[in-house]
Amino acid sequence: MKNETHNQTDTRESVTFGTDRNKDFSKEPLCLSGKDVTRIFQNGKTVTTAVDHVSFEFHKGELVSIVGESGSGKTTLSKMLLGLLEPTSGQIFYRGEPRDISTGAKKRRYWEGIQAIFQDPFSSFNVFHKIDDVLLDCINMRGMRNLSKDEKFAMMSDACSFVNLKFAELTNKYPFELSGGQMQRLMIARIFLLKPEILLADEPTSMIDACSRATILDMLLNLRNETGMTVIFITHDIGLAYYISDSIYIMEHGKFVEKGRAEEVILQPKASYTKRLISDVPKIHEPWDLSTVG
Ligand SMILES: Nc1ncnc2c1ncn2[C@@H]1O[C@H](COP(=O)(O)OP(=O)(O)OP(=O)(O)O)[C@@H](O)[C@H]1O
Ligand SMILES: [Mg+2]
Repeated sequence: MKNETHNQTDTRESVTFGTDRNKDFSKEPLCLSGKDVTRIFQNGKTVTTAVDHVSFEFHKGELVSIVGESGSGKTTLSKMLLGLLEPTSGQIFYRGEPRDISTGAKKRRYWEGIQAIFQDPFSSFNVFHKIDDVLLDCINMRGMRNLSKDEKFAMMSDACSFVNLKFAELTNKYPFELSGGQMQRLMIARIFLLKPEILLADEPTSMIDACSRATILDMLLNLRNETGMTVIFITHDIGLAYYISDSIYIMEHGKFVEKGRAEEVILQPKASYTKRLISDVPKIHEPWDLSTVG
C-alpha cells in the first residue's frame, strides 16, 4: 500500500516536472522566428560578432532552450528578441510577419506580449516601489485597472500562493527586504499575473540553491502548461535544458551549431561542441571519487 502511494507521487511529478515529449510543436503557429540574425559590436578597433547569422523558429506554447558557454552570444540574442537591441543584419519575425518596432507605440504593443526574467532578480525591480505596487502594476498593465480593490487583492494573493509566498507577509515591504529566493518567486508571481504570450528567461535560477531552483522551474513549467505561453530559456546547463525543453538550440561563438527536438539533440548529438557539452555534465548517480580530492 505504501509503495502504491509512492508510485502515484512519482507519476504526478513526472507529469508536472518535465515536458510532454510526444507533442510536435512544429505544427503549432509560429510565434517568434528569425532569419540570419546578426549583431556586431565595434569598440574602437575591436570588432566582435556576438551573434552570427542565426535562424530560428519558436512556436506557440513551445519551451525552447538556448544553450551555450559564457560569451557565446546568448544575452545579445535575447536583447534582440526583446527589442532592446537592433540586429546589425537579418530579420526577426513576430507571428510570421516581419517584426515592426520602429515607433514607440509599436514597441510598447510588442512589449505587451513579451516579458523577461533575468539572472539577477534584484535588477528586475524598481527598488523604490513596494511589492504591492509591483504586483498592482501587473494587473493594471493587463488593462484591469477598473477592478475593485478586493478583486485586485484576490488576484495578488492568488499569484503569491502560486509561488508559495504569502501576500500578507509581503505587503508594505520593499524588494530589498526579500531574500534572493523570495525575489525569484516574486518574479514568477509577476509572470503569473501578466500571462505574457512569450517569456524570455535568461538563467533565471542561477542565484538560488538547487532545491529552490527545482521549485522555481516547476512553477515555470506549470505556468507554461496552464497558459500556453512560449518560453525561451537561456542557460549554459545542457542537462537542465534536456529536462525541461521541447527544443534545444546549441550556440557556440555566436552561431547555432545544432538545433532540434530536445531528445534528438541530446541523445543523438551531431556537432562535436554538443558532444563536449554533454560529456561535461556531472554524472550525479556515480559515487564521488574522493581519493582524487586534495
Ligand atoms: N555592448 C557590448 N559591446 C561590446 N561587446 C559586447 C557587448 N555585449 C556583448 N559583447 C560581447 O559579445 C559576446 C557575447 O556576449 P553575451 O553577453 O551575449 O554572451 P552570453 O552567452 O550571454 O554569456 P554569459 O553566459 O556569460 O552570460 C562577448 O564576446 C561579449 O564580450
Ligand atoms: Mg548572458
